[in-house]
Amino acid sequence: MRIIQISDTHLSAEFSQFTANAEALKRNLATSGADLVINTGDLSMNGAIRAADLALAAEWHRALPAPVLAVPGNHDVGDRAEIRFDQPINDARLAAYRQVIGPDRWVEDIPGWRLIGLNAMLFQSGHAEDKAQLDWLAEVARVDAKVALFLHKPLCIETMDEGPWGYWTVVPERRRALMTALSETDLRLVASGHLHIARHRVIDGVEHVWGPAGSFVCGDIQEDLGGDRRIGYVEYDFSRDGVSHRFVFPADTRDLPLDPVHDLIYPPLKSAAE
Ligand SMILES: [Fe+2]
Ligand SMILES: [Fe+2]
Repeated sequence: MRIIQISDTHLSAEFSQFTANAEALKRNLATSGADLVINTGDLSMNGAIRAADLALAAEWHRALPAPVLAVPGNHDVGDRAEIRFDQPINDARLAAYRQVIGPDRWVEDIPGWRLIGLNAMLFQSGHAEDKAQLDWLAEVARVDAKVALFLHKPLCIETMDEGPWGYWTVVPERRRALMTALSETDLRLVASGHLHIARHRVIDGVEHVWGPAGSFVCGDIQEDLGGDRRIGYVEYDFSRDGVSHRFVFPADTRDLPLDPVHDLIYPPLKSAAE
């Protein structure tokens, strides 16, 4: 079964600087043989504050040549208040995402595998659904099949016992809670987005794939995290025996940096006191 992971399409009703990359991805997906497309978050540029961006992202995904599943990113549903006090994940943002895009956590069974989509933006957010999702995960991960996780933020950069990486990864406390929930699980693959970097690494016997973005890459505004800062997607072939993957960087995309327009699209945060 061929599954295509796209990520960080950052589709916007207001800003068109990166739309051509998403459109190039869509053209390439038409001949990819995809049975399923999974977007690992930041479908929208500013869906957390602009309903029009979420609506446009939903419409764009409906036109893809295969069924689509998605997990939300920080720009779709907000983030932990420690990261974005002005855009916390809350009931209204969750409800808007679910109504316009679809479920923010899900299970998809394919031969030999259970794919699990998680809402990483709930982790350590203080929202009541954070605990509910963990309990749900422990339940659905108890399965006689290999398991692949799809979520927006990577679990770690280098090692599963590393300290916090702020904006970039799942917080260590939640990473530990996730691994406890998955302690009886045959976890094989963790696929994430958010970093706008393509990278593959095997950590503690589990494949960690960072899906490249379908919009822009980061320049100096992001520290060196390894991998390739290129526009593209990931093609997976799942079989009962395992999974293989390859990164695809289509020739008709451009590796445009966000940096020159960052402050226009994502105005710098004023402090909470202002
Ligand atoms: Fe993103
Ligand atoms: Fe993100």
